[in-house]
Amino acid sequence: MPAAAFQCSFSSFSSACIVLRQRISVTTRSPAIEVVIMSKSAFITGITGQDGSYLAELLLEKGYTVHGLVRRASTFTTGRIKHIYADPHQAGNRLFLHYGDLTDGQSLTNLVLDLEPDEIYNLGAQSHVRVSFDQPAYTFQATGGGALNVLEAARQLNKKKLVKVYQASSSEMYGEVLETPQTENTPFQPQSPYACAKVYAFHQTVNYRKSYDMFAVNGILFNHESPRRGETFVTRKITRAATRIKLGLQDKLYLGNLAAKRDWGYAKDYVEGMWRMLQHSEPDDFVLATGRTQTVQEFADIVFGMLQLDPKQYIEIDPRYFRPAEVDLLLGDCSKAQQKLGWTASTSLEELARLMVDHDLSLAREEAILAAARK
Ligand code: NAP
Ligand code: GDD
Repeated sequence: MPAAAFQCSFSSFSSACIVLRQRISVTTRSPAIEVVIMSKSAFITGITGQDGSYLAELLLEKGYTVHGLVRRASTFTTGRIKHIYADPHQAGNRLFLHYGDLTDGQSLTNLVLDLEPDEIYNLGAQSHVRVSFDQPAYTFQATGGGALNVLEAARQLNKKKLVKVYQASSSEMYGEVLETPQTENTPFQPQSPYACAKVYAFHQTVNYRKSYDMFAVNGILFNHESPRRGETFVTRKITRAATRIKLGLQDKLYLGNLAAKRDWGYAKDYVEGMWRMLQHSEPDDFVLATGRTQTVQEFADIVFGMLQLDPKQYIEIDPRYFRPAEVDLLLGDCSKAQQKLGWTASTSLEELARLMVDHDLSLAREEAILAAARK
């Protein structure tokens, strides 16, 4: 007979909520044997970010119960997940949000012990490289120390039950690259406070795997973008500006270093790779990349070209956007992920740019209609 087990969890998001953990008990003729099939549950830090929103969608599609960590702010930060969020009292809801912060280790441990997730995806971070030069200490606390707090929480839970941990490591760790293309064996030479914090988190993840025999993995992900990309990252800054220029809402686009080369993929492809890493038979570290690199200028040329605009007429350089140290070239080799996880990036840069341009053109059209109505 199917039975349901309920676990109470007080989430301060909206109101106290009851978390339903689906549990189906199949009792055989022998009362001593009980087969319990439980749907998997995952805990995502950074669920309100670009990757967190795509990962939450993917896991819900796969039948998971998903718990997300949300920072308290004076305004809502849940715009990227509002389409999958439902009132926690609604029957069948499988997405639950909990207030917390990566820098608050005790609360994080309490939450993880309470939720008992099967998988933890640590995607939360101060993720902007330029900003990390302005806020190096905070970036270390959130991006480096935060990862350690997640690992510690997982280590406590791991004493009671197996929990798998994904750490969002970054191609930025390669910094002043020592070889091209970059693989899992390429040494790190970080070039920013953000990259230093990520290198720390990377090594702690490996350390916890070795020291405590934990299933803890690093995904070394190269840049991945989408229509949900934060608007101060260069690809989104370009698609937002070009589409606004097309509709007469903006005159110029000010950028920094146009010569930097990046290996840009589509975020939706990359969250599938994260999930596959945690389904692999053994914990290991993997690069996810497209194997193609382009300059910032070339990405801008693609985008402006799609809108029949000449980028030279609109793009100007503002040294404010230069970085104290730059990562000139990133190009990843994801052969290991291809062989062991069956993962490849399936969206081309042109397809990605098209998705972003179409999305931002709709936003610009809405803005133009509102501007016209105000006149
Ligand atoms: P993102 O859009 O900037 O999202 C970052 C998330 O972290 C947001 O949900 C943010 O919450 C949360 N966060 C920040 N500080 C926090 C704190 N102190 N406590 C709790 N949560 C906090 O980043 P993303 O592009 O989705 O990237 C996801 C992860 O992958 C990050 O760790 C990033 O460093 C890493 N990564 C990204 C790329 C890429 O190209 N996108 C490549 C390699 C690695 P708020 O919404 O409240 O700000
Ligand atoms: N943001 C920004 N704004 N970057 C600019 C600009 C500008 O106006 N002009 C030129 N760039 C150049 C930067 O100097 C950098 O070389 C490149 O564009 C990409 O910058 P971002 O889009 O900010 O991304 P990032 O490569 O620094 O970092 C992203 O990718 C990492 C993975 O390699 C972030 O998502 C990191 O969190 C991630 O780890």
